Amino acid sequence: RLIKGEVVLKNVTFGYVPGKVVLKNINVTAKPGQKIAFVGSTGAGKTTITNLINRFYEIDEGEILIDGINIKNIKKDSLRSNIAMVLQDTHLFSGTVRENIRYGRLDATDEEVIEAAKIACAHSFIERLPQGYDTVLEGDGANLSQGERQLLNIARAAISKAPILILDEATSSVDTRTEKYIERGMDQLMKNRTTFVIAHRLSTVRNADLIIVLEHGEIIEQGTHEELLALGGRYYQLYTG
Ligand code: CTP
Ligand code: MG
Repeated sequence: RLIKGEVVLKNVTFGYVPGKVVLKNINVTAKPGQKIAFVGSTGAGKTTITNLINRFYEIDEGEILIDGINIKNIKKDSLRSNIAMVLQDTHLFSGTVRENIRYGRLDATDEEVIEAAKIACAHSFIERLPQGYDTVLEGDGANLSQGERQLLNIARAAISKAPILILDEATSSVDTRTEKYIERGMDQLMKNRTTFVIAHRLSTVRNADLIIVLEHGEIIEQGTHEELLALGGRYYQLYTG
């Protein structure tokens, strides 16, 4: 039984600029190891919630607790090592492929880097690069395709031992075939971690422990896939298109 990775949002209200509320009175409890999915239309506030869990921004009202501790009282370094993420926009730096993956856990061995790349289905394309794992990436990985950059970010998350994982459209840029292929790797990535997943493709959220439907910054429905389908509301509409 896991003891780390509980995330609680209590009455969280937030706006990027004064006077424009983006999230209103959000309550979410993720128990250690649970998979929580956020769905809802563009601009609903899904990415914003994960920005707040990461403390990229300060909330206006309410509180966010990780393992019972208010994130305001957690040092940024400690927060970073507790949360792994694969985001909509990829983040790579000019350094080798190996360094970019190892950034997920600086004491990882070369073998562990390869293992993580395999989980992310990145190993074979890396081996085809001019210098393999020692290939230097141009600024933000400009010499890779968008999908390849995403796979490197997945490898970086795979090597991390963080108990909390955020996947924001983590496979949105890889083709359907690779996405199918990577499914097992993603399951491995989520294993034993509290995962927040955002995906437009609802097939990837249907097995979540809890699906939260957002609209204009408010939670309008929540439950399991089956419960929400039975409800016949917004999720049902999204799902049946
Ligand atoms: N927003 C903002 N300033 C930012 C980021 C977002 O004002 N720096 C606003 C957006 O315009 C939007 C709202 O915050 O109205 C929620 O944005 P976001 O959480 O990014 O929406 P998502 O649900 O993640 O939308 P998508 O599916 O398009 O990623
Ligand atoms: Mg988003």
